[in-house]
Amino acid sequence: MRSLYQVLYRKWRSQTFGEVSGQPHVTTTLRRALATGRLGHAYLFTGPRGTGKTSCARIFAKSVNCLHPVDGEPCNECELCRGIDAGSVMDVIEIDAASNNGVDNIRDLREETSFLPSQGKFRVYIIDEVHMLSSGAFNALLKTLEEPPPYVIFILATTEVHKLPATVLSRCQRFDFHRISAEEIAKRLLFIAGQEQFTLEADAAMLLARVADGAMRDALSLLDRCRVDAEEVTAAHVARCIGMADRHYLFELTDALLAGEIPLCLELLHQLYQDACDMERLCEDLLFHLRNLLVLLVVRQPRDLVICTEDDFVLYRRQADKTSAARLLQLMERLEAANANLRRSTDKRMEMEITLIKLCTSNAQPKAEAPPAQITPPKKADAPNLQAAQPTSPPQEPQAGEFARWGEVLSELQNTNPPLAGILVGSTAFTRDDFVLIKSENPAFPMFIKQGMQAASLKEAIARVTGGERPRLGLFRAEGEEAAAPKDPLARLAERAEMLSK
Ligand SMILES: Nc1ncnc2c1ncn2[C@@H]1O[C@H](COP(=O)(O)OP(=O)(O)OP(=O)(O)O)[C@@H](O)[C@H]1O
Ligand SMILES: [Mg+2]
Ligand SMILES: [Zn+2]
Repeated sequence: MRSLYQVLYRKWRSQTFGEVSGQPHVTTTLRRALATGRLGHAYLFTGPRGTGKTSCARIFAKSVNCLHPVDGEPCNECELCRGIDAGSVMDVIEIDAASNNGVDNIRDLREETSFLPSQGKFRVYIIDEVHMLSSGAFNALLKTLEEPPPYVIFILATTEVHKLPATVLSRCQRFDFHRISAEEIAKRLLFIAGQEQFTLEADAAMLLARVADGAMRDALSLLDRCRVDAEEVTAAHVARCIGMADRHYLFELTDALLAGEIPLCLELLHQLYQDACDMERLCEDLLFHLRNLLVLLVVRQPRDLVICTEDDFVLYRRQADKTSAARLLQLMERLEAANANLRRSTDKRMEMEITLIKLCTSNAQPKAEAPPAQITPPKKADAPNLQAAQPTSPPQEPQAGEFARWGEVLSELQNTNPPLAGILVGSTAFTRDDFVLIKSENPAFPMFIKQGMQAASLKEAIARVTGGERPRLGLFRAEGEEAAAPKDPLARLAERAEMLSK
């Protein structure tokens, strides 16, 4: 009966640290602390959604109170473990800060902490979404964190750690949960399918894991959806279920575009139009298709960044081999512009036809991949004209401060723009005035960042991490490097002006 059905991600919540996938840096440390009794009084669990924060907080709460813990793990059988699972033990309190975010809520909590635990050894407060607390509530919480009774432990959990005040951060032991790798997720999905006695193809598990993008809960929810009407879950089935099947027209259209075959493009478009294909959607899908091809050409290990079946991956490879990154970037840039026009256009079909014709006739010659111009940010913050953009002095490393939170920016990007994050692996960044200068060895980076869409997502990620304004971007090149890459000064100026105006 449907009403008795428990969704997989609830049914398969990890009950021990050993059952938590992909977070060994968290679980081994917590287990050791629990086994040796060296406990802190405030913990902070941060990281992306669906990666095990709440699960670990509950396991921790059980373990400290368990009557028969083994090596830091709860037994899950004693009356306390079972009571905590059932929510009947008053000593473990879960608070959703999103809906209890006021000063009064935290004051009540402070008063409560003066009572001894009723059944267990510790009273554990799990405060979820703690970034939602008001500033008054944070101050009240801080007072409690300063002098907590010895039998009280706080576990704060959040996906948005940058919103917490430094005063709270400094009083907690912090544990950073990571996105879970596709392999780890697939392994857990296959295990659960085995326990639930339905067939899950290995390829299907990998596809689900990639779509879930590091979040185990999302992977399990997707699996739930895919198995409603199939007892045997195959990769083709998953592709259909998540609306990723029948993408062959994108390969055909791209082939025609790359070959510059206008009649074939228009024929394919006509067919799609007859089949009631939405033109805006088509434009976006085509952009994403080109993005996948680009990823194949510029990222060293692209498999996890291109979400598709194994069969389609072979097709992507084949298509990517027929073109160049420069050509793809050129097509994407124009398609991006067309996408904006399409939204405003009254005759979307004609707009799309014109776009395809323009793309076919656009210069198919890949641009020479010249080394990027050196960017010297002008002192003034206003938009630079060519004059102002002229280098006044070569940048010198000591003038620029290393950008300390670059690692956080990269993990933020991993969320919002994985291809760019892939390209930026191993990069560093420096700040100067209101500029962030990026130093990357990856030859694709300068091309990437010239695209408005890419630059915007990087600026956004930086702003999110620093909590400040969107910065201006530039390429960092150490002194001396420039001499090795002489370049037409006019081309350089043009390039610089183009970038700075973004
Ligand atoms: N690391 C993991 N290992 C195994 N299962 C996991 C893991 N992370 C999440 N899950 C599955 O996803 C479900 C939700 O996980 P959990 O509530 O712990 O995530 P969370 O990090 O607290 O997410 P949110 O930030 O959205 O609150 C669990 O019930 C479990 O089925
Ligand atoms: Mg949670
Ligand atoms: Zn127990």
